[in-house]
Amino acid sequence: DRPKPLAGKKAIVTSGPTYEPIDPVRYIANRSSGKQGHAIAVALAELGANVTLISGPVAIDDPQQVATIHVERAEEMLDAVLSHLPADIAVMVAAVADWRTTTSVDQKIKKQSMNQPMALQLTENPDILKIVGHHANRPNIVIGFAAETQDIEKNGRLKLERKGADIIVANDVSTASGVMGGDRNRVKIISRTGTDIWPDLDKHEVARNLAALIAEKIS
Ligand code: C5P
Repeated sequence: DRPKPLAGKKAIVTSGPTYEPIDPVRYIANRSSGKQGHAIAVALAELGANVTLISGPVAIDDPQQVATIHVERAEEMLDAVLSHLPADIAVMVAAVADWRTTTSVDQKIKKQSMNQPMALQLTENPDILKIVGHHANRPNIVIGFAAETQDIEKNGRLKLERKGADIIVANDVSTASGVMGGDRNRVKIISRTGTDIWPDLDKHEVARNLAALIAEKIS
């Protein structure tokens, strides 16, 4: 049996996209397979943590070693996260949609006549990571992700401060990187003490390395 450095620790992991309904048949979402978030949930569980995975709609299976809660909208994801505080560890991997519609979603919106522009009114979603990072019951370790296409380290460091995170895992999601939906990831670990650049790794290896780093920090 492998050592369980996170035994007795409670972890919350968000994963996948959120779907923000426009009407009963349409939605706004970010691209996210859930692969990295789910792998992190499993890696934490393998180190003995009691993990709650809060996932938006994904095409992959629920991991076996963790309790998975399924949500659709960002507001539902926030409620689920807050209802699981206090916790020792929070890793917010979900690609939360930045906006949701303000309009009613009860009926399917009819197509307008040709050449008529269609307008959607949007309002900003709550920033789950930021809320957790500044919460009275803030977990000991709060980790966020930053999917960037440029100025990766600079933008990641800004995010670290603004969101009250201990670590931002920044990755290059420009289409040339192949990270989106793929099995591999190349990340920079940004913390207050500096930046660590990890090589190109399988998403499961990124997850295991991150779980080991969390175990190191918590002990
Ligand atoms: O600001 P940005 O979306 O780039 O930040 C990414 C990080 O913040 C990720 O860890 C993501 O899970 C989290 N986030 C969140 N709630 C939002 C937006 C982002 O938890 N509404």
